[in-house]
Amino acid sequence: VIPPPSPRRACLVTGASSGLGAAFARALAARGHGLSLTARRADRLQTLAGELRERWGTPVSVHPCDLGSEADRRALIDAVAGEGRAIEVLVNNAGFALSGPFAGQDSQLLEVMRVNGEAPAHLCETYVPGMVARGRGAILNVSSIAAFAPLPSFAAYAAAKTLVLNLTLALHAELRHRGVTVTALAPGAMRTEFAEVSGTASLAAGIPGRLWSPPERVAEAGLRGLDRGQPLVVVGVAYRALAMLAHHTPRRPLLATLARASARGWPSEH
Ligand SMILES: NC(=O)c1ccc[n+]([C@@H]2O[C@H](COP(=O)([O-])OP(=O)(O)OC[C@H]3O[C@@H](n4cnc5c(N)ncnc54)[C@H](OP(=O)(O)O)[C@@H]3O)[C@@H](O)[C@H]2O)c1
Repeated sequence: VIPPPSPRRACLVTGASSGLGAAFARALAARGHGLSLTARRADRLQTLAGELRERWGTPVSVHPCDLGSEADRRALIDAVAGEGRAIEVLVNNAGFALSGPFAGQDSQLLEVMRVNGEAPAHLCETYVPGMVARGRGAILNVSSIAAFAPLPSFAAYAAAKTLVLNLTLALHAELRHRGVTVTALAPGAMRTEFAEVSGTASLAAGIPGRLWSPPERVAEAGLRGLDRGQPLVVVGVAYRALAMLAHHTPRRPLLATLARASARGWPSEH
């Protein structure tokens, strides 16, 4: 279960300046939780914090941080510790994708691995011991439907999201009898800033309307799954079917299909 709100505890939400992260922050504030919000864009975080304080009267702190930088993450962890509130809910949501051919992605490729993979692992490593010692805690790690298959044209992103998925499932099994619940959330398409940031707006335009979920709904589904102690939440019947299919299809035919789809769906290569 999600530990109940308390003035001595807070939820740390990463990537709260936009999209799904902002939806998590709003949903947790509505439940009465104190919050620590992080992302790079301080102005966005401050605006959201102001909104949440005014609407819910809940304590909200803001800690701008580039989660791709280990030094920045250490400063974030110190700043959060300095507030004297125990982090009992951790939402590792920040992330971005890189699309296109693997060759030529240079330093951005490592950034994808750091932000999507290394940062959630680092924050889990930081906050799990305290949660275990108190016998209380909840961690929601945002993976993706992309985690269920190797994805040509999204190789690093899909691999980083697979890391998050399997790290989360293993932690779930390890910690479930110690009072700490850990859940992976694998969203499908959501209308956030994601497509623009990853340069996939034209790809997104081809996704049928019924496959899009509002981030607010996805955040609620994730928190419900976390509260119920589920290891994995995949939002929507179509995405659950897709995840099953990707998981059970032999790799060779799966890769051949995905390679064809990638060749068709990546317009700027042609
Ligand atoms: N939208 C989708 O279709 C979709 C589908 C499946 C999974 N997801 C996953 O859902 C999560 C939320 O994405 P979203 O859809 O809400 O996208 P979004 O609107 O682009 O939000 C991404 C958030 O991550 C933060 N972020 C990115 N790089 C960062 C960095 N280096 N340091 C700190 N924060 C960083 C951004 O904040 P700043 O720019 O202010 O730093 C922003 O708050 C991501 O993990 C994404 O991979 C999204």
